[in-house]
Amino acid sequence: MSKPVCLADFETHFLKSLDRNARDYFSSGANQEQTLRDNVEAFSRYRLRPRMLRDVSNVNMKTTIMGNEIDFPIGIAPTAMQRMAHPEGEVATARAASSMMTCMTLSSWATSCIEEVAQASGSGLRWFQLYIYRDKAVTMDLIRRAEHAGYKALMVTVDTPILGRRLADSRNKFNLPGHLKLANFSTQSVQSSVDTQQQSESGLYKYTQALINNKLTWDTITWVKSFTKLPVIVKGILTGEDAKLAVQHGVDGILVSNHGARQLDGVFATIDALGEVVEAVEGRVEVYLDGGVRQGTDVLKALALGAKAVFIGRPVLWGLAYQGQTGVEEVLKIIKEEFKLAMALSGCAKITDIQRSLLTYEKRYSSKL
Ligand code: FNR
Ligand code: LAC
Repeated sequence: MSKPVCLADFETHFLKSLDRNARDYFSSGANQEQTLRDNVEAFSRYRLRPRMLRDVSNVNMKTTIMGNEIDFPIGIAPTAMQRMAHPEGEVATARAASSMMTCMTLSSWATSCIEEVAQASGSGLRWFQLYIYRDKAVTMDLIRRAEHAGYKALMVTVDTPILGRRLADSRNKFNLPGHLKLANFSTQSVQSSVDTQQQSESGLYKYTQALINNKLTWDTITWVKSFTKLPVIVKGILTGEDAKLAVQHGVDGILVSNHGARQLDGVFATIDALGEVVEAVEGRVEVYLDGGVRQGTDVLKALALGAKAVFIGRPVLWGLAYQGQTGVEEVLKIIKEEFKLAMALSGCAKITDIQRSLLTYEKRYSSKL
């Protein structure tokens, strides 16, 4: 295979290189995958209105998230079980994020533990994604360990009281291969997937049913805020109504996300949800986006609509499958350079030059037909 020149090239390699159990788990969206397609396609309905004759000889992509500087506004979203993509899994991802001076978010359901990922990341910026367990002691333990290991924010996932239905995983009876474990947990019952040999269902679905708290309400967010001094970001908000509630409950940030289209099929693409969230929040907290970000112009569009940064999920898994740490670095380098080019060609020399006026929407054209 020739050297990848865009993120899609890594996907082509990934689809050929992994076994079905892992490949389908990483790739799938929920049900008929309408939202999975739309997350990517929706970006192309926004068109750019570039400005000319603005000195772009020095394009500066630096920004901050939760007060921490990153070299460019593209972070790594939490994805579970990365050692299925590469033997070094989350450790390789952490090293790549750190060397590229961006943020890595570690999943609760990682196959490398909080402490070893912290060590690999060194002085790199790391956040921790939190799933809330029925057993409060399990949740409290995760939070305290993330604090001690130098994670700088908690990302609480609010769109997964129950796992979405991914058809391929049901067919494959998806399960974590026996040589891997959910490394953040010491007791066997929390560590491994529920035995599915007799079930026609994904092992992860059964695991979530058994252990994850499906009674979550905004009170849970209030509790997390009171239990930790770390900034709390809610991950999975898609509406202005919920964004207002999030601000009222004292969150520090909102990640507009539909979980990579893996939960409720038929929800709108995240880039289409971003506008109403940004409007509802009125600048009171930082807003980020993930879902379908595959090229530099996607990043530019999300920032023009008011996101402080974007996060990528699957492309990191493609990079891992390609070449571990180096592969993830390559993915980040390519999308970073694409973003830089997109900024320059649209007349933006720094992040604050990226304004709403940079965008128009496809309807503008169709309404004239
Ligand atoms: C995820 N996502 C996810 N989210 C989360 O909060 N905790 C998790 O453990 C996981 N695990 C996970 C595994 C896999 C294989 C995927 C694809 C996704 C969702 C993830 O954080 C993010 O929202 C999406 O992946 C973003 O969309 P893209 O970039 O994959 O299109
Ligand atoms: C998923 C879980 C791990 O999307 O968030 O598979």
